[in-house]
Amino acid sequence: MDRAIDAFLADVRGILAQAGASEQGIGGLVERMRALVHDPDVLATHEAFTQTVATGEAAAELFADTGRRSELLYTDESGLTLVRSRFDPDEPTPIHSHGTWGIVGVYAGRDRHESWRRVDGGTEAGHAVVELIEERVLEPGDVVIIPHPPQDIHRQQGYSGEPAYEFVLFGANAMVVPRLLFDPEHESAREVVPGQR
Ligand SMILES: [Fe+2]
Repeated sequence: MDRAIDAFLADVRGILAQAGASEQGIGGLVERMRALVHDPDVLATHEAFTQTVATGEAAAELFADTGRRSELLYTDESGLTLVRSRFDPDEPTPIHSHGTWGIVGVYAGRDRHESWRRVDGGTEAGHAVVELIEERVLEPGDVVIIPHPPQDIHRQQGYSGEPAYEFVLFGANAMVVPRLLFDPEHESAREVVPGQR
């Protein structure tokens, strides 16, 4: 597992050094994430991870929000961050952003993944109009892009009564950076620190 993650991060740094988070760079990261979610070393540690998130062990590196539990695997001073997450089948995440781009790679279970778009021209909390642009069921091996802010808006939930397990690579430490939670009905957004509801 450590070998797989170290190799992944080395390749990610190389891609970002060459192309940044441009369209080409993001494309390269998608391809590399596709390899990670098929890596046998990663799949071999799945049982241990399900125990970690179920029991709350390694709590210092474990982050819980509505519908999501994440283990922080890596972060550095550039902001580059990798988490391994479980998405609950019983409760969706809020419609939310992270203030950064991201690459989602599902490796077990299925994920009901909604992409939303902000159409009021704003970027901050307060008045915010968002619309659903796509809903997909992600299978193991599927990789999706969380676009650059302010369009990094999505909602996730384990599909069909089963949790979804995935890796997410972020351009900033999404476990620390304040994020926005959106309420389409009331056309509003509020800012929260990750870990708060
Ligand atoms: Fe998210």
